[in-house]
Amino acid sequence: MPSALPDGDPVPDDGSLPASALAGAVDRPLGFYLHVPYCATRCGYCDFNTYTATELRGTGGVLASRDNYAYTLIDEVRLARKVLGDDPRPVRTVFVGGGTPTLLAADDLVRMLRAIRDEFGLADDAEVTTEANPESVDERYLATLRAGGFNRISFGMQSAKQHVLKVLDRTHTPGRPEACVAEARTVGFEHVNLDLIYGTPGETDDDWRASLDAVLGAGPDHVSAYALIVEEGTQLARRIRRGEVPMTDDDVHADRYLIADEVLGAAGFDWYEVSNWATSEAARCLHNELYWRGADWWGAGPGAHSHVGGVRWWNVKHPGAYAGALAAGRSPGAGRELLTDEDRRVERILLELRLREGVPLALLREEGLAAAGRALGEGLLEGAPYAAGVAALTLRGRLLADAVVRDLVD
Ligand SMILES: C[S@@+](CC[C@H](N)C(=O)[O-])C[C@H]1O[C@@H](n2cnc3c(N)ncnc32)[C@H](O)[C@@H]1O
Ligand code: SF4
Repeated sequence: MPSALPDGDPVPDDGSLPASALAGAVDRPLGFYLHVPYCATRCGYCDFNTYTATELRGTGGVLASRDNYAYTLIDEVRLARKVLGDDPRPVRTVFVGGGTPTLLAADDLVRMLRAIRDEFGLADDAEVTTEANPESVDERYLATLRAGGFNRISFGMQSAKQHVLKVLDRTHTPGRPEACVAEARTVGFEHVNLDLIYGTPGETDDDWRASLDAVLGAGPDHVSAYALIVEEGTQLARRIRRGEVPMTDDDVHADRYLIADEVLGAAGFDWYEVSNWATSEAARCLHNELYWRGADWWGAGPGAHSHVGGVRWWNVKHPGAYAGALAAGRSPGAGRELLTDEDRRVERILLELRLREGVPLALLREEGLAAAGRALGEGLLEGAPYAAGVAALTLRGRLLADAVVRDLVD
């Protein structure tokens, strides 16, 4: 089952925000994340807030049902409109993620997007993305999304190799994600991402190269590649503990990252965040950039997190509890916290150091600055940006990003 939520202060029943959160909002971009908490089966490595039909049985009644979900979520979009009041900002990005958004009917996804357009308006150049599982879409489905206003799509490919997909419990057949990219292009999606995972037990360097080659052959304009995280409480963690599959070590992860950067770089993909590569600035995921740069976003759906003007809150996790709160006219918020200046400073370092543009040295304290000086000497930070007052990771620094961040926040 998914991991637990943090504690926090209670969220008022009407979801209202302190006045400080809305001050200066017009100058910040606003995004929406819409969470779809359903999957056909649970992948053994995944601890996202998502539920299979079996996991939901008997725990949420009709309220938790997938059939009603779009309408429930639209209730939260309307609540957002009330909470944000006469906020005039059109929405800059919408990102539908999961779970498996494409387990819902394409019309449901379009309906949810329409609610945002009706309540807030969409910016003319709004980026509208959905995640999609390769086995749950076809060209007709994709055409409905495109006609309904989606212009970016992200497919969970993970690997091109059958034996790797099997360890990950992925149900799609090799070749299907690449076919999805072609179908998405045919129906007019300008921006297409493929998600990959590297370092799965049993994966070799050659397997990884084959996955990257398959990605390049498919022709997306964006690639996300994540080192496999073995999350506590997952089936994969249990299998590793029982010795059924070996654990991948950090050196292997580092080697795979270097291979990814080399292969993708040679094909015209530049990294812009440690785990993300794009063929141009226009191909970057603007929605993620909103997160990384501390903008405002409203996360709708069970377990979704939001951030508006220094207030962070999160919804109840279970789809039944979520729908129950909205049906009773209450905010589904489970807890919230007001970020202090120090919280925001630390958060900026954590997120911006992972970006190609780096983080201003002016945000660092004495110990953090000393650590940055050492990181520069060790070749983990780039020299020219450093001289201009910015900590920006080198390739070697990207391999050790978590450790560098830990030192710089001191
Ligand atoms: C939560 S999934 C949602 C998309 C869709 N359900 C799918 O799996 O294709 C988003 C991405 O997170 C990545 N991911 C999920 N769990 C992970 C883990 N334990 N380690 C590394 N990456 C993970 C996968 O690449 C996945 O495509
Ligand atoms: S399909 Fe995606 S969200 Fe669902 S269990 Fe698998 S990785 Fe997690």
